[in-house]
Amino acid sequence: MAVLVTGGAGYIGSHTAVALHESGRRVVILDNLSNSCREAVDAVRALTTPDMAFVEADMRDHRALDVVFETHDIDEVIHFAASKAVGESVEKPLDYYDNNLGSTIGLAQAMVSHGVGRLVFSSSCTVYGQPDVIPVTEAAPTGAQSPYARTKYMSEQILRDACEASALDAILLRYFNPVGAHPSAMIGEDPYGVPDNLVPFVMQVAVGRLDKLQVFGSDYDTPDGTAVRDYIHVVDLAEGHVCALDALAAGLGGCTAVNLGTGMGRSVLEVVAAAGEAVGRPVPYEIVGRRSGDIEQIWADPSYAAELLGWRASRDIDDMLRDHWNWQRTHPNGFRG
Ligand code: NAD
Ligand code: WQD
Repeated sequence: MAVLVTGGAGYIGSHTAVALHESGRRVVILDNLSNSCREAVDAVRALTTPDMAFVEADMRDHRALDVVFETHDIDEVIHFAASKAVGESVEKPLDYYDNNLGSTIGLAQAMVSHGVGRLVFSSSCTVYGQPDVIPVTEAAPTGAQSPYARTKYMSEQILRDACEASALDAILLRYFNPVGAHPSAMIGEDPYGVPDNLVPFVMQVAVGRLDKLQVFGSDYDTPDGTAVRDYIHVVDLAEGHVCALDALAAGLGGCTAVNLGTGMGRSVLEVVAAAGEAVGRPVPYEIVGRRSGDIEQIWADPSYAAELLGWRASRDIDDMLRDHWNWQRTHPNGFRG
């Protein structure tokens, strides 16, 4: 039997494919390479096994999905494939609803029709918006504030309904802010164009691809005035997926949302300072105005993940920035140079 990893050529999917292989599973990656590249798959194979299956296909291609289920003995699925840029989702909402909802619906239909019952879905802490109570638990009200975040919220609802009506069981993993890279530095985050996210931007400044970081806002109601997030090492996140599949295999039924975070909030300036330590010199930055749509602060209450999945993050912010820097410094232009 095998686990299907949709979006497995991407940042979190590639690290999870490695962790799944290490857990003894046979992995099948499916990706349309819209935000990733074949070199990432090659690197995953180099870290694991040259035999790891890769299917280049679009999740919305129902026939292609059927063929994967018919030919690969799939018994569990992790669904990463989605478009993920918040700003782009505001510009192109229909593309986001089409891709993210179309992929999720098509996958759930294929799983039901092929009798595959165990699904782990990539959700996001953006479903909470700005929570009133921090750290945020899974019981907090949702408040998605962008088309992207709404695709995650709606996908959660779609999967809840599908689980209610069929033999499908799902865990909806609400990730906080993934950063870092595999300790081998053979895989890592490789955004196309100018990065939207803090740590990839900081690292591209450190490696000389960008001049300086703009820190968006220093007038938040936080200890140093900059916004606070829960950064989590991508390998911890990957291991959380293995624990989630194990929990489903052990009989956890229904549809359950679970936070994956460290439980620690870090400000933008704390991350910039820690990045300077990892790089060995300060990262230049300037303070500018707030970024539209940003929330002030959020971090996870990760206790449900510990209780339900037996998982907790073990890597700290210095581990995250050291590993991210090792990846960036050895791959200044990402996978292709
Ligand atoms: P990523 O863009 O690196 O990976 C997503 C992968 O999905 C890419 O390889 C892309 O080519 C593929 N893909 C997209 N649409 C597809 C389609 N229609 N058919 C086949 N493949 C398709 O992103 P990531 O950071 O690895 O994120 C993975 C998942 O986690 C996404 O669902 C994202 O929304 C979610 N998530 C990410 C973050 C984050 O900050 N990175 C936080 C919370 C949730
Ligand atoms: C972190 C902090 C910025 C860039 C996004 C998505 C979310 C999730 C994770 C998918 C914020 C500040 C950033 C820069 C800065 N992804 N910043 N200068 O906004 O928490 O979440 O990624 O689900 O959906 O919205 O992450 O890394 O963009 O920003 O000052 O150049 O860094 O303002 O306070 P965010 P981020």
